[in-house]
Amino acid sequence: MELSFKDKTVVVTGAAGGFGSSIARTFAAAGAHLVVSDIDTDGAGKLAAALPSAIAVTTDVTDPDAVRDLVDAAELAYGGIDVMVNNAGVPHRKGALVDLDVGTVDWQLAVNIRSVFLGCKYAVPALRRRGGGVIVNIASVAAKRPRPGLTVYNATKGAVITMTRGLAGEVAPDIRVNAVNPVVSETGFVKSLTGSDVLPGDLRKDWVSGIPMARTASPQDVANSTLYLASDQAGFLTGVCLDVDGGRSIQ
Ligand SMILES: NC(=O)c1ccc[n+]([C@@H]2O[C@H](COP(=O)([O-])OP(=O)(O)OC[C@H]3O[C@@H](n4cnc5c(N)ncnc54)[C@H](O)[C@@H]3O)[C@@H](O)[C@H]2O)c1
Repeated sequence: MELSFKDKTVVVTGAAGGFGSSIARTFAAAGAHLVVSDIDTDGAGKLAAALPSAIAVTTDVTDPDAVRDLVDAAELAYGGIDVMVNNAGVPHRKGALVDLDVGTVDWQLAVNIRSVFLGCKYAVPALRRRGGGVIVNIASVAAKRPRPGLTVYNATKGAVITMTRGLAGEVAPDIRVNAVNPVVSETGFVKSLTGSDVLPGDLRKDWVSGIPMARTASPQDVANSTLYLASDQAGFLTGVCLDVDGGRSIQ
């Protein structure tokens, strides 16, 4: 069964990062036109240049005008959008909730929740102009199995899951809205979380020991599930928040 996105246009936010770039490459390999969006202009530009059919758009996903402009740019370039992947998001530095300052919390709410709200708000009318389509939000299994030290981040991902399920009921049947819940993966996320490029050994050991499949997620694991949820083969799936977690959520 081949999942084809030939002649479809896919917008991916946070596309310069670990998951986003893998998601963009995977849709491109399935024949899609890509709109590669990131706050990192350089990273988005380099990725778009390496794909067969893509444009790069600099977007701060917390900014309503920027997200509206992103959708407009996609429609202008390719005549419409078929899939919106709200992937951009960042954890706060690992630490106790009582030590977080209000500015950090406001930023977490903006970059992880407001962003998904804005991506959905501007994508829904555009998808309707196309006759229907799919939204995939990147949440986290941490919303369901929260570990200490990431409480506010985990709560933001809980909001993404609830927004996904609620919106799915609101916009069916012409638009499907699903989410992917990844377990930890060694992307730029690790640097944001720990300040180090790699997961410190003791943390890695502890976290992997809670994953029955005995490894962290790869960006390709996340990209494959995103592609499937967006595909016609998943045409009856909406409001699904798929755990891509090597079994972490059953422990
Ligand atoms: N890696 C993990 O362990 C993990 C696990 C579960 C969920 N997630 C989620 O997956 C998504 C992607 O994370 P990743 O692992 O690829 O991390 P990453 O750090 O590699 O990529 C994040 C990307 O988002 C971009 N970004 C940050 N702030 C932005 C903003 N305001 N506007 C636009 N772009 C912005 C960054 O420039 C970067 O390219 C996030 O939503 C993250 O919360 C990650």
